[in-house]
Amino acid sequence: MPTDSRLRRYLVCEPRYFDVQYAINPWMSLDAPVDTARARLQWQTLIDTYRAYGHAVETVKPVAGLPDMVFAANAALVLGGRVFGSSFHAPERRPESAEYESWFKAAGHDVHHPESLCEGEGDLVPAGGLILAGTGFRTSRAAHAEVQEFFGVPTISLQLVDPYFYHLDTALFALDDTGGADGATIAYYPGAFSAGSREVLERLFPRAVLATRDDAMAFGLNSVSDGRHVFIAPQATHLIDQLTHEGYVPVPVDLSEFHKAGGGIKCCTQEVRS
Ligand code: ARG
Repeated sequence: MPTDSRLRRYLVCEPRYFDVQYAINPWMSLDAPVDTARARLQWQTLIDTYRAYGHAVETVKPVAGLPDMVFAANAALVLGGRVFGSSFHAPERRPESAEYESWFKAAGHDVHHPESLCEGEGDLVPAGGLILAGTGFRTSRAAHAEVQEFFGVPTISLQLVDPYFYHLDTALFALDDTGGADGATIAYYPGAFSAGSREVLERLFPRAVLATRDDAMAFGLNSVSDGRHVFIAPQATHLIDQLTHEGYVPVPVDLSEFHKAGGGIKCCTQEVRS
C-alpha cells in the first residue's frame, strides 16, 4: 500500500536540441525521425504535471550538439545532497557529464566524478535503504563498488540481459523509497534480468509489483513515483491497472517521441535528494 506522497526536487533539461542523430540502443533508428515540436510539447506537459502535484523542478541549460542531454537521470545519483556524477559509455554522450557537474557545483553540492563507467540514475535506483545497481550494457560493476564506497549504502548488483532494457530504469522503478527493504516497494519486469538477479529481487522485494513485457516495452517501468502518484506512460495499460489496484494513483504522461531515443519519463528526470 502506498504511503503519503513526499514533495520532490527534480532536475530536468529542456529538449531544445533533442533528436536521434546516432544509435546507441535498439530503440534508436536514424530512419524513424523525431517530431521535435511534438517532443517539446510532451516534455512541457511532464514539467507542468510535476509542478501541478507540488514538486519543485529546476533546469540545466541544454547544449547544442548533445541531443541526449534531455535524459537528465543519466547525469548523476544524488543522495543526502551528495552527488555521484556520471561517466558515459558512448563517446557521443561523454560531454554531458561536465555540464551537469557544473550545475551541481553551482547549486552548492559536492560532486564526485566516477572512475568507472556509470550512467547515474539510469542504472542506480535507491530503494529500501539499498541502492539497486544495473550492469550489462552501460554502468560497470566496478562503478557499483565505487557507489557503495561513496555513499556507504549497500549496493546490490543486478545483471541486465535484454538489450531493449539496457538501463535499470527501463526495467524497474521504486514506488516508495522510504524505510527498510520490507517497507519499500518496487515494480519491475523480471524478463530483463538474469536468473540469479531475479532471485535476488524476489528475496529482497517479495511484495514487488511484477510487470509484463508489453508494459516494459511501453516504457511503463520508466516511471517516477512520489510515494503515491505514479507518473507513467499511458501505453502501459496493464501496469496502470495493477498500480491502481495496489492503491497508487497513476498519472499518465505521454512521452512517445522520446521512446524513439530509448527514453521515457524517468530518463528525463533527475531526483535531487537532500
Ligand atoms: N538515447 C539515450 C541513451 O541511449 C537514452 C537514455 C535514456 N535514459 C535512461 N535513463 N534510461 O543513452
